[in-house]
Amino acid sequence: MTSKLRFGIVGAGVIGKMHAEALSNLPDAELVAIADCVLERAQKLGESFKATAYGDYQEMLEREQLDIIDICTPSGMHGEHACQAMRAGRHVIVEKPMEITHAAIAEMLRVQKATGVKMAVISQHRFDQASRKVYDLVQEKAFGRLVMGNAIVPWWRSQAYYDSGAWRGTWALDGGGVLMNQSIHSIDVLQWLMGPVKSIYAYTDTLVHKMETEDIAVAVLRFANGALGTIAATTGAYPGTGTRIEIYGDKGSAVIADDNLSYLHLARDESEDDTVGLYGLAKEKRQQGMITKEETGRAAQDPAALAIRSHILQIADMMRTIREDGTPLVDGNAAKHPVEIILGIYESARTHKEVVLS
Ligand SMILES: NC(=O)c1ccc[n+]([C@@H]2O[C@H](COP(=O)([O-])OP(=O)(O)OC[C@H]3O[C@@H](n4cnc5c(N)ncnc54)[C@H](O)[C@@H]3O)[C@@H](O)[C@H]2O)c1
Repeated sequence: MTSKLRFGIVGAGVIGKMHAEALSNLPDAELVAIADCVLERAQKLGESFKATAYGDYQEMLEREQLDIIDICTPSGMHGEHACQAMRAGRHVIVEKPMEITHAAIAEMLRVQKATGVKMAVISQHRFDQASRKVYDLVQEKAFGRLVMGNAIVPWWRSQAYYDSGAWRGTWALDGGGVLMNQSIHSIDVLQWLMGPVKSIYAYTDTLVHKMETEDIAVAVLRFANGALGTIAATTGAYPGTGTRIEIYGDKGSAVIADDNLSYLHLARDESEDDTVGLYGLAKEKRQQGMITKEETGRAAQDPAALAIRSHILQIADMMRTIREDGTPLVDGNAAKHPVEIILGIYESARTHKEVVLS
């Protein structure tokens, strides 16, 4: 039997707890230690999962023999905490966003290369069944020429949510608002399916909450493959309805709604009586592409109500990568583009100019 991989978590907040739960579902993972600068938080989580608690992250790194550190601290600390672990020879699983500035991301990639350890960045929705299926269909060119890709995130977060942590809604540590924190998941899946974004024009604003960063953003995108698209996101849409990711091509369409494949129609699957007229499919035929939902996450209203399954799959992917000396599905290079898109949106909104990504 292979020995268990030994995990440490830094950051015992909302997502740190989810990592602990995910690890307890993986038989060849062992959660050994948890660090939080608020020692009581580490202790509380440590008691539940039988892990040693530390009030000092560096002390945890020095004292414990750990294979992997899960970085679950505020977003603007990911780089510093990941680099500390990598320099100590540990592999890292970094929560999203990878970091909040180009410089911090470049430094993480540099340190990873220099130390030779592995880094995965949580992008759990790439592990959802629906997005994997659409991704495979895109690889098969089943949608034909991709023409449009949209991500729509009409969520709700209360003022109490933003007030629940001093870092939330700040430029220094959250790195942004609805885009950098909540919508990065959908932006990540959108660019994974549609390919990289080449240029952006955007508006952002703060309409509902008292916070530094944006609670609404609308962006127009040009993808490198020539397709167009949009991102429309807010945390000011009470009570918070579902996320939609829409992929349209000249041979098919797919809609992922609330992480489920809610619509799929491909020309290649049509039978003879499905003839598409001058104006497209008749309504009753269109409805045949509607797929019944299997599972609905409640993340649109509640950040703690995340489905845990995709986190488990992504952590398992990293463990396999370490055992087989491979590359994780979402490594640092794969995780940086969503942040580049978001930083491009901020720049366009600030300068009122189109931003071309290099
Ligand atoms: N993948 C997802 O779906 C998902 C969901 C929620 C949050 N997140 C990400 O997880 C990260 C944390 O978010 P959260 O909601 O859990 O925040 P949180 O405020 O609930 O938890 C953060 C924890 O980090 C601790 N901390 C801060 N500075 C520290 C330091 N220097 N050393 C040790 N501990 C320190 C805090 O005391 C706190 O307990 C963010 O980057 C966020 O974007 C991801």
